[in-house]
Parts: sequence; structure tokens; C-alpha cells
Amino acid sequence: MITVKNGLLISVEGIDGCGKSTFIKNLQRKLQEHNVDHIITKEPGGSPLGKLLRQIILTKEVPLCSKSEYLLFAADRAQHIEQIIKPALIDNKVIVSDRMGDSSIVYQGYARGLDIDMIKTINAWATNGTVPDIIFYLNIDVPTAFKRIYERKEELTSFEREHEDFMYKVKKGFDELFNNKDNVVKLDAHQTPDTLAQQAIEVILQKAKK
Ligand code: TMP
Repeated sequence: MITVKNGLLISVEGIDGCGKSTFIKNLQRKLQEHNVDHIITKEPGGSPLGKLLRQIILTKEVPLCSKSEYLLFAADRAQHIEQIIKPALIDNKVIVSDRMGDSSIVYQGYARGLDIDMIKTINAWATNGTVPDIIFYLNIDVPTAFKRIYERKEELTSFEREHEDFMYKVKKGFDELFNNKDNVVKLDAHQTPDTLAQQAIEVILQKAKK
């Protein structure tokens, strides 16, 4: 069994419809094939509290102003770190999280217009400064992402129901935030699921060896 001393924290980021779910499913298969001790988790919704918060945030059955929306993500994040991420790091596991704090910087900061420095400060406080060792950024163009969302035929989340210009702001935010960051691995999300998972597992195995 491959373990990593003090764990390895990985987040997967990208705009809605970039193919994160399929990517993570395929990556999990590769992690199993290579006998890597790992967990798969997500924000929002990785902890029991997070599951309740995810329902509130993504259905928007009650109105949420931008600040409340962000603070619910931050509450989910604090609980996720404390209850799920920290113990798994101590257990020397590889952790793959479907989104983390960078999503708030982009969605609530760049796209909704909240103060980005304030989000960074609260994120750092909520997580005790825990940041991913690797960020896989699934890069895709907005029209292809929308096509994928509509082809899924599932009920749309509150974010997927936003106007198209919101998603262009999100895309621009990710591109700017992830430009020239050491821990970001940018993947072309138009490639086949297997190619993407293969590229990712190679990065993980390389990092795990160090
Ligand atoms: P997903 O888990 O299917 O990606 O859905 C989560 C949605 O929540 C997605 O549209 C992105 C959004 N989101 C934020 O706006 N801010 C955040 O901090 C996080 C984690 C997600």
C-alpha cells in the first residue's frame, strides 16, 4: 500500500460542467490500481454538517445574500478540515477533494464581487492555513461546459442556473488565480477521461515518491 508521510492534499477545481465528477471517478480507479491509500471528499458536503449546508446552498430554497452564501461555504470548509481532512493527513493518506477554498475566491470573489482579500483571510482562518499540495485545474471553454451541463439532464444547481456571463466571470477568475501558481496542474479538460486520469496519477505518484 502506498502512503505519503503527513498525507497529500489534492483539490480539483474548474467551472461547472468541466467534468470534475467523471475525472475524480477515473482518478479513484487509478489510485486503487496503484494501491494508493486515499479518500475522496468534497466541498461543500464532505462532512455530515456539510451535507446539510450543501442542500441549503445549492437549492437556494430560501434567499441567500452573497455574504451568507460565502459564510456557509466557509462553515462547511472549517468542519471539513477539522473532521475529514486533518485526520486523513495524520493517517498519511492521499486526499482528493472535489473543490476547496479557491472555489470561494473565484465564485464569491471574482464572480459575485465580494472582497477577495477578505475571502482569503476567512478561508485561511477556517482552515488553519491548510492549503492543497496539488490543485488539478480542469480547464474547459464555457460553451462546451454549458453543453455538458444541459446534456446531463439532472436538475440544475443554483450556480448552473446563473446567467452565462456569471460563468464567464468564474472562468476568468480561475484563469487569473491559477496563472503561474506552483501547486497548480492545469489539465485540458477536452481530453478523454482516461487521458486526464493518467496525467493526474503520474503527477500524484511522482509527488508521493518525494
Ligand atoms: P459541485 O460540487 O457540483 O461542483 O457544486 C458546487 C457548486 O458550488 C459549484 O457551482 C461551485 C459552487 N461553489 C462556490 O460557489 N463556492 C465554493 O466555495 C465552493 C466550494 C463551491
